[in-house]
Amino acid sequence: MTATLRAGRDEDANGFIALIAACWAEYPGNILDVDGENPELRALATYYAEAGGALWAVEQDGALTGMLGTKPLGDGVWELCKVYTAPALRGTGMAQRMIAAAEDFARAHGGTSMKLWSDTRFDRAHRFYEKQSYIRAGALRVLNDLSNSIEFVYAKPLTGVAIERLDAAAAHAAIPRLAEILRACVDAGASVSYLPPLARDTATAFWTRSASSAAMDRRVILAGWVDGVLAGTVTLDLDMPPNQPHRADVAKLLVHPDARRRGLARLLMDRLEDEARAAGRHLLVLDTREGDAAEPLYRGMGWTEAGRVPGFALNGEGGYDATIFFWKRLDQ
Ligand SMILES: CC(C)(COP(=O)(O)OP(=O)(O)OC[C@H]1O[C@@H](n2cnc3c(N)ncnc32)[C@H](O)[C@@H]1OP(=O)(O)O)[C@@H](O)C(=O)NCCC(=O)NCCS
Repeated sequence: MTATLRAGRDEDANGFIALIAACWAEYPGNILDVDGENPELRALATYYAEAGGALWAVEQDGALTGMLGTKPLGDGVWELCKVYTAPALRGTGMAQRMIAAAEDFARAHGGTSMKLWSDTRFDRAHRFYEKQSYIRAGALRVLNDLSNSIEFVYAKPLTGVAIERLDAAAAHAAIPRLAEILRACVDAGASVSYLPPLARDTATAFWTRSASSAAMDRRVILAGWVDGVLAGTVTLDLDMPPNQPHRADVAKLLVHPDARRRGLARLLMDRLEDEARAAGRHLLVLDTREGDAAEPLYRGMGWTEAGRVPGFALNGEGGYDATIFFWKRLDQ
């Protein structure tokens, strides 16, 4: 039952076609017409090699149970294509290894971001891409093919530290990763509204509410990636009372413990100030637990301490910690 990830070959054509046909048959209305619509499947390794990309296959007991390809689209953007796994391979971590192989290949050949199109019906695949730090990016694509395919676009930055503002679709797609980041931070002792251990459902419910609020332009959610992993976030709450139209609150600055001290929080806060200015907000307020890592960050970025409240929030050990309130006026 050992599964082996190897380079895909033209001679794998029958195995690839059978695998794709089986995956498509799991969802209604998909019609695979190889010679009419997907003739490249007859010699797929050649197709990807000629496009400057690569193809992989997973072999298990003599059968092909997984495949994926990648190719450059130009300007550092690469496409992840033909990601299929048979049921025997699911939940084994192989799909993650396959994606990592393609992302590493793209990076090694100058790729700075990865993009993919996935039929709106393939909902299990979407959850998988979202866990791999991809977010929805851009409008739907209509293929006008036999399967009446309508596709979502997913994308993510592949290299270095990158920040993006999440629109409604992106914020929704980011919920699983943002929930993981919130849980990891709370479980590592962060003081951000919740106590450890934080249940996945509670974290998911928080980000679902937050994504809905961002969709209504009541808040801005920024996401940050480190080398292709969605690892940090910060929120600008714009929902202020009528007498504070110039103000916004900063909340949920979170960087996954595995991605700290790479400058992600500083970049998130810099970008947040740009977003605040663009929204016409020039007085920002936030609070943070006394003595936390965020305190020197805010002081170093020009925030002014307004004061501290002793015993403000409960911690995971059952004690109470002081909170410091900070404010910052932005140039207009
Ligand atoms: C606070 C937090 C967001 C910082 O994220 P980060 O990506 O590691 O921060 P950066 O790498 O951008 O650090 C920027 C600066 O902040 C300061 N800083 C960050 N972590 C620090 C730490 N552990 N100790 C002291 N200073 C620290 C430093 O001045 C640092 O600059 P330097 O690395 O050049 O010295 C992260 O530790 C976190 O998520 N903590 C838990 C959640 C939390 O407390 N959020 C704040 C809620 S108000």
